[in-house]
Amino acid sequence: MKFFLDTANLEEIRQGVSLGVIDGVTTNPTLVAKEKRPFREHILEICNIVKDGVVNTEVVATDTAGILREAREITTWHPNIVVKIPMIPDGVRALSVLAKEGVRVNITLVFSSPQALIVAKAGAYFVSPFLGRLDDISSDGLTLLREIMDIYRAYNYSTQVLAASLRHPLHVVAAARMGAHIATMPYKVFDQLFKHPLTDRGLAGFLKDWEKARETLGDVFEPASARSPRR
Ligand code: E4P
Repeated sequence: MKFFLDTANLEEIRQGVSLGVIDGVTTNPTLVAKEKRPFREHILEICNIVKDGVVNTEVVATDTAGILREAREITTWHPNIVVKIPMIPDGVRALSVLAKEGVRVNITLVFSSPQALIVAKAGAYFVSPFLGRLDDISSDGLTLLREIMDIYRAYNYSTQVLAASLRHPLHVVAAARMGAHIATMPYKVFDQLFKHPLTDRGLAGFLKDWEKARETLGDVFEPASARSPRR
């Protein structure tokens, strides 16, 4: 499973990338607006940080001609950009054109299986079902994800499923168990994936026991400068 960070915050992206398990970034107009910087410059900085990873960058036009114009412009910025287009009829119309041109498109704001079916037929590179936002309205995001996985497998669609709007580690685990290709998550959720109280307790115990026996263990882990000279 690939992990994307769902943020436009450079510090969060740097932190995540330094851990070596981040495969890309998703942004949206809300996330980019929070950073209050020129759009193109900011996206290019994200591209430089994630290096080989993809950077999902969203259009703001809502008519086919405008979406096509913005998508074609955005893709000239960097080879690792995937264009995000909303799941509206004009968006799907633009997707059909762009897919034939070889442009990688992520269809976003997907909330139903029929929507996911349509975008796979039209040639989307990624489909982004929003799990958390469905849960927020007392619907079930994971049920939607399961349906999409079943449908895509039944027809062998090449569109990759990008589980989005993830709110907690259980969403990530459930998406992984279903075989979703990618999970995109806020930095806070990514950070939670690392944590377990038994890891912290276990490590504290190991270090305490090590310190107690310090005298007898030798100085193999001391920095070279602090070691006594070899005889
Ligand atoms: C995905 O590409 C979206 O940016 C994102 O997952 C939306 O998540 P939210 O519902 O937490 O805003």
